[in-house]
Amino acid sequence: MIDFKNLAKKYDTPLYVYDFDLIENNFKDLKEAFKARKSLICYAVKANSNLSVLKKLNSLGSGADCVSIGEIKRALLAGIPKYKIVFSGVGKKDSEIEEALKLDILFINLESEAEMLRVEEIARKLGKKARISIRVNPNIDPKTHPYISTGLHENKFGVEIDVAKRMYLKAHRSSFLEPVGIHFHIGSQLTELEPIKEASQIVADLTKSLIKIGIDIKFFDVGGGLGIKYKDEKTIKPYDYAQAIFSTLKGLDVTVVCEPGRFLVGNAGYFLTKVLYEKISGKKRFIIVDGGMNDLLRPSLYNAYHRVEVVGKKGDESLADVVGPVCESGDFFAKDRLLPKTEHNDLIVIYSAGAYGFVMSSNYNSRPRVAEVAIENKNDRIIRQRESFEDLIAKEVDFI
Ligand code: LLP
Repeated sequence: MIDFKNLAKKYDTPLYVYDFDLIENNFKDLKEAFKARKSLICYAVKANSNLSVLKKLNSLGSGADCVSIGEIKRALLAGIPKYKIVFSGVGKKDSEIEEALKLDILFINLESEAEMLRVEEIARKLGKKARISIRVNPNIDPKTHPYISTGLHENKFGVEIDVAKRMYLKAHRSSFLEPVGIHFHIGSQLTELEPIKEASQIVADLTKSLIKIGIDIKFFDVGGGLGIKYKDEKTIKPYDYAQAIFSTLKGLDVTVVCEPGRFLVGNAGYFLTKVLYEKISGKKRFIIVDGGMNDLLRPSLYNAYHRVEVVGKKGDESLADVVGPVCESGDFFAKDRLLPKTEHNDLIVIYSAGAYGFVMSSNYNSRPRVAEVAIENKNDRIIRQRESFEDLIAKEVDFI
């Protein structure tokens, strides 16, 4: 059990707390599920890019799936070897492509023909051969929230099968491109196996046809997306996930690359916030807390459900909204939840905040970003200092 009260006292609130032992268990579960084949887990850095989190995952053997040169640099700084780093994303800048090629990472996931031309051109300029993989859009409905669904043609991600074929043939003939992988990612917070299996089958069939014509695909990158329990969702077991993918790969000698973000860190993170006031407005009861949408955006942005608990209080429950101090009606963490009567300084824990929490925070309303703390082997330590007013204005010039 984590002593939330003690952590809030020691580090103040709002605060992110990460359970590193749980991250380790999650990583080991997934690695174990993939053990029947060659595999590489490339943690999706976007989910939580704190350097200590990356360092922890590196110590377990994880690689990194990065979507900007900033994430690549974070991964390298945390010790993740360049040969375990892949670079994804729908809009990479020339400067980012150039740096990635110079850094000699494992491969770049391409998302359009135009992007392939840029990568080829930049590789030519550098006198290099760029290792690439192409993100195929299998046109499968992943049955998740539309904002985090990516595998349909109506989404901006990847290319259609026919376009992918054309790109592979072109890349194969180029002196500056080396197609080594194939990639798909149909969405995030996936809770159904069938769409993943269907997508994997489509991409595996394409892989077979490419290998037949001499294109040596070594990496089969299945993206991320494994969902977690926020409330009462049924989730996919890592073993079943791996088996579903393996069942589509018969006869293929490929390394399976997987890019989980949320699965590894989501349920290992807690957001701690203190009650400022309660108020009743008409029939509505509001619990106003010191954390805001700028600190944890998911409820406001996706109407996402996060479990909320008042630490150490039970009984006398009635419906309430838990809201922050930011000047937006969308600034809420929970709506219409049965919660006990609270008082000034009561502590609230918001669960499942380890993925897409701190990384999506901002300084809106001139609020400094909060501190992050790790718990490992029952010891806690600060892994990111709380920002100060000076940090907020550090980059502003020409105002005196
Ligand atoms: N690989 C690719 C190419 C991705 O686009 C993503 C997530 C991942 C891997 C990792 O997905 P995960 O295993 O974490 O589901 N901010 C949203 C989620 C956005 C996901 C974007 N891409 C949220 O808070 O739910």
